[in-house]
Amino acid sequence: MKIQGKQYHTIWVKNGNSAVIQVIDQRKLPFKFEIFDLITVEDTYFAIREMVVRGAPLIGVTAAYGMYLALLNFDGNGFEKYIIEKADYLKSSRPTAVNLAFAVDEMLDFILNKKLNTDLIEKTLEKAYGLKEKEIYFGNKIGEFGLNIIEQIYEQKKESVNILTHCNAGWLACIDWGTATAPIYKAHKKGIPLHVWVDETRPRNQGARLTAFELGEEGVPHTVIADNTGGHLMQHGKVDLVIVGSDRTTITGDVANKIGTYLKALAANDNNIPFYVALPSTTIDWEIENGLKEIPIETRDTKEVSEIEGWNGSEMVSVKLIPEKSKVANYGFDVTPARLVAGLITERGICTADKKSILELFPEKNI
Ligand code: MRU
Repeated sequence: MKIQGKQYHTIWVKNGNSAVIQVIDQRKLPFKFEIFDLITVEDTYFAIREMVVRGAPLIGVTAAYGMYLALLNFDGNGFEKYIIEKADYLKSSRPTAVNLAFAVDEMLDFILNKKLNTDLIEKTLEKAYGLKEKEIYFGNKIGEFGLNIIEQIYEQKKESVNILTHCNAGWLACIDWGTATAPIYKAHKKGIPLHVWVDETRPRNQGARLTAFELGEEGVPHTVIADNTGGHLMQHGKVDLVIVGSDRTTITGDVANKIGTYLKALAANDNNIPFYVALPSTTIDWEIENGLKEIPIETRDTKEVSEIEGWNGSEMVSVKLIPEKSKVANYGFDVTPARLVAGLITERGICTADKKSILELFPEKNI
């Protein structure tokens, strides 16, 4: 997708130096466009933990490149123990998005039991690139399938389609296209009139800062709203469809996504508005059935809630929001039960959020 008319991915190998992986520093957007270099596995851990990169698919791909960097920088004895430790270290950077563990384990399986030499290092880099390409393909397919939903609404309504989204499940959270935004970009490119309600998504404001930024760069009409506005808009017929992303979805269709998603699903359900979740299969945790009980929910630094970060015209600044003595809690995600989800938009098609339908799309997982 584009930034100031120039095509970008969110992660790439530095031109002329394959020892450096480069990412867009999402902590500075939309105010500053800066590139952040990953040279070591520690840099990679930092970038994921501190949300230089974020969003389930991008976290996974970044960690895959982190495994390559771990390999590249190995210098000593006990390679196998070292690489297993680095894999565990990367996996501990953030707990909720299952893409992270999948990508690291896939890289580890590829690396283990092989001789460490230049050929393995090159092939590991290619392997990470393969995961990146796969996510681009997934985003594109999700876009094609999700486009049908928007088209159908437009055919009935014959007026601009209003879509509400939460957090940033856009191309910045992936590599290209995004998940929730992929159908929106496809519909926009096809000329279907649409408008996106963008939840600001406190505390880190990924909606206000990142989704608004990328929709703006692609010329998609949108309006940023305070998080609590969605229900009101739905009651007044101003939302035709909700599409969100996911960080981990159970095999039974329970969806973990950015905190606040559940409340949007409840409001959509109360107003008979279809609530769709767009996700690649790399976000489905095939091992778990009960989202509420089994999905680990990240808690983050309380400063993200007690302070607010913004741009003062020349630099990023944080200001205090709450009384000094008040306690603060900061839960990163919540779980929307499958019963509130109209459908899952995946790279293989759209299915209802239940085990049978998910396994019909992914029969190879039925083991
Ligand atoms: O904490 P973040 O910004 O990593 O959370 C991101 C989300 O919740 C996204 O909706 C999710 O990862 C889907 S990304 C395509």
